[in-house]
Formats: sequence, C-alpha cells, structure tokens
Amino acid sequence: MTIAPDRPAGRTQWTDAQLLHALEEVVERELNRHLGVAKEWMPHEYVPWSLGRDFDGVMGGEAWAVDQSPVTEVGRVSLVVNLLTEDNLPSYHHEIATMFGRDGAWGTWVHQWTAEEGRHAIVMRDYLLTARAVDPVALERARMTHMAEGFESDNNHSMLHSVAYVAFQELATRISHRNTGHHSGDPVCDRMLARIATDENLHMVFYRNLVKAALEIAPDQAMRAIADVVINFRMPGHGMPGFERAAVQIALGGIYNLRIHHDDVLQPVLRHLKVMEVSGLGPEGLQAQQELGVFLDGLDAQATRFDERQAAILARKAANEAKAAARAGATA
Ligand SMILES: [Fe+2]
Ligand SMILES: [Fe+2]
Repeated sequence: MTIAPDRPAGRTQWTDAQLLHALEEVVERELNRHLGVAKEWMPHEYVPWSLGRDFDGVMGGEAWAVDQSPVTEVGRVSLVVNLLTEDNLPSYHHEIATMFGRDGAWGTWVHQWTAEEGRHAIVMRDYLLTARAVDPVALERARMTHMAEGFESDNNHSMLHSVAYVAFQELATRISHRNTGHHSGDPVCDRMLARIATDENLHMVFYRNLVKAALEIAPDQAMRAIADVVINFRMPGHGMPGFERAAVQIALGGIYNLRIHHDDVLQPVLRHLKVMEVSGLGPEGLQAQQELGVFLDGLDAQATRFDERQAAILARKAANEAKAAARAGATA
C-alpha cells in the first residue's frame, strides 16, 4: 500500500478527506477483486411464476389469505422486515454517495453496490407476491410509511465509522436473509434468500478489507470507529412500523438474536481483523480496544441469558401445544 503524501505527521488526526484519498488505491483493488468474484444472476429465475394469479381490486381476482402459502409466521414477519430494509436503498445510496463520493474508484463502487442491492428488493417482492407469502396491501402500506421516513445513518459524521458499520451490517443482513430462508418453510424462498445472502457476504468482504487497511494506516481512529460501531450497533430497519415487536419474534424464532449477533456477525469480523491483538496503538486506540473487550464480554453474558430465556419460552410453548393436542385428541 502506498502512503498518501498528505498523511498527517505523528499522531495527528486524519480527516475524512485524507482517509478517502489514502484508501482510494485499496478501494480500487477491492473493487476489481469484487468484480472478479461476483457472479451475474437473474432475479426472475428465483421466482415461482407458475404459482401467480390475479389479486382482487382492479383485476377482480382472488384476495390474499394467509393459508395460500406454506411460509411460516416467523418467516412472514422476517421477510417483511428484510424486504422493507432492502426497499430503503435510495436512502442508503444517498448516505454512501454523500460520504464516499461519486467519482473515481469510490464512485464506481457506490454505483456497483447500489445496482447489486437493487436486485434484492426486486426478487423478494416478486417472490412474495407471486407465492402469496405475505399480505400485499399491508406490505405496500408499510413500504410507503418506511420509505417516506427516509433513513439517516448513525455514522455519517465519520467515514471510518461508516465503513466499520457497513462491514458488520452487511454480514448481519447476510445472516438474517440466510436464517429467514431456513425458517421460512418454503424451499423456493430458502433458495432465493441464499442467493441474496451470497451477495451480502461479498459486500461484507469488501468493507471488512477496507477496515483492515484503515487499521494499518490510522490504527487509533479505526479502533475508535470499530468500538463505537460495535457498542452502538442497530439494524438499519430500526425505524420501520412494528420493528420492536417483529424483532422479538425474529429473535425467539432463531433468525436473529443476541447470540447470533455476537457469534455469527461481530466475532467473525473482529477475529478476521485481529482487533483484540492489534499492537502499536496510542492511548486513544488502547482505550477503544479496552472498551470493546469489556463490551463483548458483557454482550456474551447477555446472549447467554437470552439463550436460557429463549429455551424456557420455547419449552413452555411446546408443553402448551402438547396439552392442547392431547385435549383435542380426548374430545375427538
Ligand atoms: Fe441487500
Ligand atoms: Fe449488501
């Protein structure tokens, strides 16, 4: 890696403009690597069009009903959260285009990423409507409410915070899509979400490798950004209608919860970056590294308490269902 000529002397803080310039070469390398491994795919191939038929309203077809699809309740809840999250792409594009710019390698990445992300909402909506997996009226109303709110990044004050956030967020999205597919009850849905999850993984790798380069050129600031982002992490869909309630169902359903967040999202990125082993930090970097370590220990303990509560709730639910089934059997 070449060090940009405007590198600040000693331990002076890097500005966003200096960092963007210093990382441009890494962006170009990572962009080329990404373009070399990202395979073209066709959203229409993942949609079971033969199941499609007219809806009520203008076409005078059949109204939606919950029993028209095999998709599970938790699958429906999570598919809607994931699709509304993907739907807000115009806001995300605005945020990263403003932060990273629309020129040079950064700009090429911003536009490539946006085009790839565009496929996700296309294929998910086509699947959900064709397979009648969710209520189309409720979905459209939720989309209007959510997109009309817009999305503003928690991290748009700092480019290192922005890059660190998206590294974790892309992996969180990958895991969320993949687990939604596993719990959806429909192999067609599972295959479609697995394809999206592959894209999200490549996006994570791109951003993670940028964070790695940032740790080399501006270790203290990068460590601060990683610690802040991990400690304050929240999913981009947090503002959507009914998010809290949906998040509880998604957590109990084993799609995304504290244990998964800690084990499958935070730890793989942090381990890859060897964040807890980075040496040569100044007092600010050391402080951030220490805060991160304390936070992760606390999160692990919290995740264990969640696991225990989840097991108790699921056991109670299973017992109630068994009792109800026995009662139904006795009266049959
Ligand atoms: Fe996506
Ligand atoms: Fe992505």
